[in-house]
Amino acid sequence: MDFKSLISHCKEYGFIFQSSEIYDGLSAVYDYGPYGVELKNNIKSYWWKSMVQMHENIVGLDAAIFMHPKTWKASGHVDAFNDPLVDNKDSKKRYRADQLIEGYAEKIDAKNIKDVEKAKARFGDTFDENQFRTTNDRIIERQKQIDAVLGRLAEAMKAGDMEGLKNMIDEYEIVCPESGSRNWTEVRQFNLMFNTQLGNIAGEEGKLYLRPETAQGIFVNFLNVQKSTRQKIPFGIAQIGKAFRNEIVARQFIFRMREFEQMEMQFFIRPGTEMDWYEYWKQARLKWHKAIGTDPSKLKFHDHANLAHYANAAVDIEFEFPFGFRELEGIHSRTDFDLTQHQELSGKKLQYFDPELNENYVPYVVETSIGCDRMFLAMVADALKEETVPDADGKDSVRIVMKLHPALAPVKVAVLPLLKNKEELTKAATDIYDKLKLSFICQYDEKDAIGRRYRRQDAIGTPFCVTIDFETLENDTVTIRDRDTLEQQRVKIDDIRGVVQGKVAMENLLV
Ligand code: GAP
Repeated sequence: MDFKSLISHCKEYGFIFQSSEIYDGLSAVYDYGPYGVELKNNIKSYWWKSMVQMHENIVGLDAAIFMHPKTWKASGHVDAFNDPLVDNKDSKKRYRADQLIEGYAEKIDAKNIKDVEKAKARFGDTFDENQFRTTNDRIIERQKQIDAVLGRLAEAMKAGDMEGLKNMIDEYEIVCPESGSRNWTEVRQFNLMFNTQLGNIAGEEGKLYLRPETAQGIFVNFLNVQKSTRQKIPFGIAQIGKAFRNEIVARQFIFRMREFEQMEMQFFIRPGTEMDWYEYWKQARLKWHKAIGTDPSKLKFHDHANLAHYANAAVDIEFEFPFGFRELEGIHSRTDFDLTQHQELSGKKLQYFDPELNENYVPYVVETSIGCDRMFLAMVADALKEETVPDADGKDSVRIVMKLHPALAPVKVAVLPLLKNKEELTKAATDIYDKLKLSFICQYDEKDAIGRRYRRQDAIGTPFCVTIDFETLENDTVTIRDRDTLEQQRVKIDDIRGVVQGKVAMENLLV
């Protein structure tokens, strides 16, 4: 399904609404509707169970959003959490300079992709893409250009060279996508942290930041948690919570938001073991994504060429969103950067006594960090399908179905009396609904023809529809319709719970 239709579907079926829509919305801020909040809670629960419940050496935390402002000085966010910003004087639109330059390289790459596609069509099965890419002069030349552009970009970004970025924009004759002009301002650094004021303290002293990542709440509590839970290294602290970034360009729906939620885990380890744990968490996290049935061809690792100020190795798990492969989750080897910085600025020791080595040290950290909203978007993008299936009369009809893993689907079971104006049927159906709601998020629906009700449930991803018909009144059985196979199974009312539970249990994902 294309991206525009996905966004409309999310609104029409109560998953995601633009924030403050009646006031024309607030850019890059979104609200989760009735099905959205269920799906998001299930994602969080899947993450929490697999990270905390399934690891005896990982414990949870819920730190406050506000933190002492020195936290952000120590972490490097005050000085280095910047994006390069440039304005077009004609359109008055604001851009990230690095993204404009990346876009320029992507345009060159698009020509290569086009040539490859053409050659593929010409040579058919005998086509060897790798050979073509390494022998075709035009492709080689363009690839050299791309590498040169990206190499220069990486260097300028690393050095914080704003003038260098501006020179590239001018040299490559990059135009504003809106106005088509090259009338750019200088490039300048823009800090992405939102700030606010504490109580009645005016000026710099009362300046507070909305946290741009949840990780720092974990670092500053490292010793509190270690001592109170008597964990031994290696151990982890996991947290789910809101983070805020004043993104310069925030497009692509919930992919890049100004207020979003992160699920982060910091794994504290002995110095020198970080590459082993980094590898371990890379594989563990990829497995987590694959377990819910995400199309494996849409997931890949992407090593960071530009390391963040705190990392000595970093990789993204990328997902193929409707607009291409992009970062879904980051795994970072953060060394002892954060704890050492906090130790220095706070003057408090943040060290661990290792009884096996009989020495104190500042632990190293491997972090896994995933945006809950981005995970939501990836899941919906992977699950939402348009299919042709037989309708009740056996004729072909098109349905929109969200093939979410049953354990994560917002509603687990819909209870549907065949007809709404037959009291015997609606009474039997409400009795069943009242029983099932003790175990699952259920929905009772008696409006419209049964086929239309099935379609509504397909559209929100409900794995099971239970239909109460006249046979129910005779022998206490119902039909259970499976969302994916469309098969209808007749089962005893007392067995419904077991059939549903068998497929929707979160345990299925954890083993
Ligand atoms: N503590 C490390 C950290 O915050 P990051 O790569 O900046 O690393 C981690 O962010 C994850 O948070 C990303 O992989 C992404 O899923 C999510 N994320 C970051 N910025 C986001 C934004 N503006 N909107 C939605 N999700 C975002």
